[in-house]
Amino acid sequence: MKALTINIPQKSYTIYMGKGIINSIGSNIKKIHKGKKIVIITDKNVDSYYGKEIKRNLEKNDYEVNKIALKPGEKSKSVETLLEVYNQLLNFNITRKDLIIAFGGGVVGDLAGFVAATFLRGVPYLQVPTSLLAQIDSSIGGKVAINLQQGKNIIGNFYHPKAVFIDPEVLNTLDRRFLHDGLGEVIKYGCIKDRQLFKKLLEYSTDEELLSNIDEIIYSCCKIKKSIVEKDEKDFGERMILNFGHTIGHAVEKYYDYRKFTHGEAVAIGMYNITKNSEMMGMTEEGTSELIKEVLKKYSLPYEMPIVSKENIIDIIGIDKKNQGEYINIALIKNIGNGFIKKINRAEMLSYI
Ligand SMILES: NC(=O)c1ccc[n+]([C@@H]2O[C@H](COP(=O)([O-])OP(=O)(O)OC[C@H]3O[C@@H](n4cnc5c(N)ncnc54)[C@H](O)[C@@H]3O)[C@@H](O)[C@H]2O)c1
Ligand SMILES: [Zn+2]
Repeated sequence: MKALTINIPQKSYTIYMGKGIINSIGSNIKKIHKGKKIVIITDKNVDSYYGKEIKRNLEKNDYEVNKIALKPGEKSKSVETLLEVYNQLLNFNITRKDLIIAFGGGVVGDLAGFVAATFLRGVPYLQVPTSLLAQIDSSIGGKVAINLQQGKNIIGNFYHPKAVFIDPEVLNTLDRRFLHDGLGEVIKYGCIKDRQLFKKLLEYSTDEELLSNIDEIIYSCCKIKKSIVEKDEKDFGERMILNFGHTIGHAVEKYYDYRKFTHGEAVAIGMYNITKNSEMMGMTEEGTSELIKEVLKKYSLPYEMPIVSKENIIDIIGIDKKNQGEYINIALIKNIGNGFIKKINRAEMLSYI
């Protein structure tokens, strides 16, 4: 089992990683949670594969366990679901001495984390991420949120778990489209911070080869996210580098009303296109965007900018909550492995699309 400890002001917690780790989750939790009750928040897909076993494992360790299995998908990150979950927690008589486990992909992680942050002004919780995206990104860093009709992640907080348990083995049941979706973010880490990781991704010849090395890949990504979050927990500086590919990506996702492209696919389009343009402007080493294209093609991720007018994209970027005032911060790369943040005038954004 590998471990990484995140040190942020007023808190430190550990990410434990290992194949098969969920089979011994009860005894591992015993070391960090002395209370009696545990609520597992999951979704119906994840529940159908692993729900029974994880519940049994916790009960074997003398916990009284309740489970809430949500409808899978982004729609569950809603106010309605939130209220349903609060109701269930009241029915189970959950107190601040008890524990919530967020067991699922990023949707479950964000919602359950937000529930934990707000119910009774905060109940301790664990992240047990089960999608690649959740294992390398959303379960680390403490961002928790739900969506409103008006936009994604509008209501949220920073609320860190007591620990994170990552079992790469569960990725074997993850649908390939979601695996590739998560790879979009893995490629991003390679682009901004880790040339070696990027090189490895280019070398694998099949998904199976990739999956047989996935624990190493997850570890590299978590290490990068840890170091960035430790320097800038609240996302005012260094953490913005994680937005590489996201300014264009968010706009493309939103333009198609989140139906045509998954998040990872939209980020893939964003990374390639912003780099193609920064390369033309002399800010990025020549040939870099071709390398990005090569790796994206390999994992069946899109790279061509769909036919959307640049003005439409700018309009959408204009109302993105992450942008303040006239200037926006964009993440670019000098070459593979070296990301940087550039502050530009909003109007200049046209040349980067
Ligand atoms: N908090 C953060 O820092 C952060 C960062 C990035 C993304 N996010 C959020 O994450 C969410 C997306 O997460 P996601 O891509 O994991 O989506 P998701 O949670 O919807 O999971 C994707 C699909 O995979 C299924 N699934 C998950 N694990 C599985 C497994 N092991 N076996 C079989 N099926 C499995 C789920 O049921 C779902 O159908 C978005 O809401 C996004 O806003 C948050
Ligand atoms: Zn992302």
